[in-house]
Amino acid sequence: METSLDFLGDLRRTHSCGVLRASDEGQAVVLMGWVHRRRDHGGVIFVDLRDRDGITQVVFHEDVGPAVHRRAEQVRPEYVIAVEGRVAPRGPASVNPNLATGAVEVVASRIWILNESRTPPFPMEDQVDVSEDVRLKYRYVDLRRPHMQRNLILRSKVAFVTREFLNSQGFLEIETPFMTRSTPEGARDYLVPSRVQPGSFYALPQSPQIFKQLLMVSGFEKYFQIVRCFRDEDLRADRQPEFTQIDLEMSFPQQERIYEVIEPLVQRICQTAGITVKLPFPRLTYAEAMRLYGIDKPDLRVPPMHPVEDLLPELANAAMPLVAIHVPETGTPSRKERDELKVFGQERGLRVYDDVKRLERDHAGAIAKVRERCGAGDNALLMLATWAGQPKGQRPEETVLQACGQLRLECAQKFQDRHKLLDPRNFQFLWVVDFPMFEWDEEEQRWNAAHHPFTSVDDQDLDKLLTDPAHCRAKSYDIVLNGVELGSGSIRIHRRDVQTKVFAALGFTDEEARRRFGFLLDALEYGAPPHGGIALGLDRLVMFLAGETSIRDVIPFPKTARGTDLMCDAPAPVPERQLRELGISTRAQAK
Ligand code: AMO
Repeated sequence: METSLDFLGDLRRTHSCGVLRASDEGQAVVLMGWVHRRRDHGGVIFVDLRDRDGITQVVFHEDVGPAVHRRAEQVRPEYVIAVEGRVAPRGPASVNPNLATGAVEVVASRIWILNESRTPPFPMEDQVDVSEDVRLKYRYVDLRRPHMQRNLILRSKVAFVTREFLNSQGFLEIETPFMTRSTPEGARDYLVPSRVQPGSFYALPQSPQIFKQLLMVSGFEKYFQIVRCFRDEDLRADRQPEFTQIDLEMSFPQQERIYEVIEPLVQRICQTAGITVKLPFPRLTYAEAMRLYGIDKPDLRVPPMHPVEDLLPELANAAMPLVAIHVPETGTPSRKERDELKVFGQERGLRVYDDVKRLERDHAGAIAKVRERCGAGDNALLMLATWAGQPKGQRPEETVLQACGQLRLECAQKFQDRHKLLDPRNFQFLWVVDFPMFEWDEEEQRWNAAHHPFTSVDDQDLDKLLTDPAHCRAKSYDIVLNGVELGSGSIRIHRRDVQTKVFAALGFTDEEARRRFGFLLDALEYGAPPHGGIALGLDRLVMFLAGETSIRDVIPFPKTARGTDLMCDAPAPVPERQLRELGISTRAQAK
């Protein structure tokens, strides 16, 4: 059906579709928006008119305005219209308590049809289940759905309060380049070929790390940026190839100064979503986090693990930990549930003692003490786990604890409907501090920076950099929320001699260090102040605040797990001529 369309001309809307109330009775109004729903009752047509602010019922009476009524007959869902009319109270029987504007309707005296719409691929309702591929292909329609509108409005508010707060603390918002050299954050770079220098490439920044450090050398003292970062890495629900950081850096800070900025900032941000968080955030050292949770990003909503090898030495494997895992209020797990958990543990190298009744029979006194240590009541799940074979790695105990930590989370997730511990509105922040400086790369047989190569080593471990890298601690810290790393930062190296030493510990030759980071090494020789900072993942934070489980739901135009934009079909081949200009030729990939 082709409808003749009206021009907007100089028509102005007087109100949004979310504001009219009973007290507005009699007001002359002009509303504009999308036809959310249209009900034709013969002589009366009801249109639910929607804009980003809400929905207002508009009514067209045939006997009051036959021409306007005829025009209203032509509108269909998602048509864009403007109406002029008067606010009228609804009769008591037709008040809609679920709608903010549900006490009133607008009796239309004019209508303008500004645009038609094809039948949308899915209705604009949250309740309708639509495959994500279809949502992403028609993202501009998907974004009209109420929860996506809410999420992006929330995201905008978070960005606003972040700027407001950091401005109030004396931070300057300074932009750093997107077309730059590689910044090492552990992922692959996205490269941009240079036309004027064929064979040379810019790298899109994995973070503004080096630039923000240079801004400290330049004397800006407090920098921040809400900034896009680009990383070519395997994607997961909480990762995107381009994502946004709240990135900041300060001169002359101790770690405490960073926490003093971030804690109230995070509290303020949470407030915008109606979530109250208490300060200060608890802190755990990396070693404590591993011992108690088997992970460097513990979910504090679930109780910690407890080492119990002292109580049951006969069950422990040599010098490896014996760990008690307990989850309250699960009830007695069935044989099948226990078997599944046991297999889960075995697949990760553990020996699992899942039959607590049997343990109680064989080791009554010791298990009573285990229960006491864990605070595990009769209704709790209790399991013991140790290592089944010979653990590998530079820090073998960690390998065991990590596997136990995974089993702990699996136990919690399996019974989450019973214990309700994993309430997504329960925000449990913490700092994890004193990370190791280096991580052993088994494949490459060398040490990598656990955070990044610009992180300071603990003052006490400076002498161990080259002799005992396994036991060097870093001045780095993560902020963790409910089992997810929300942000990461460190006090940086501001001395050229120390930076050179760290590069050496990481196996960079002088020449390689010079080639990749010569400009930073030079800058450190021109009065670099002590400095440090942090970056928070904005997408992840908003994902939590919005109660979503995928960051794609808080990013307007995200990529799929294969890095594709289904709407504009990117990445895409480019014309041969464009490649020639860039001095690039491609090889057809052998299938
Ligand atoms: P890091 O690499 O730990 O540190 O990143 C900081 C935070 O950014 C978020 N993040 C991501 N979010 C979505 N998709 C991704 N692919 C992704 N990768 C990271 C996480 C993470 O905690 N320059 C340092 C910070 C510093 O030292 O100041 C850095 O980038 O929430």
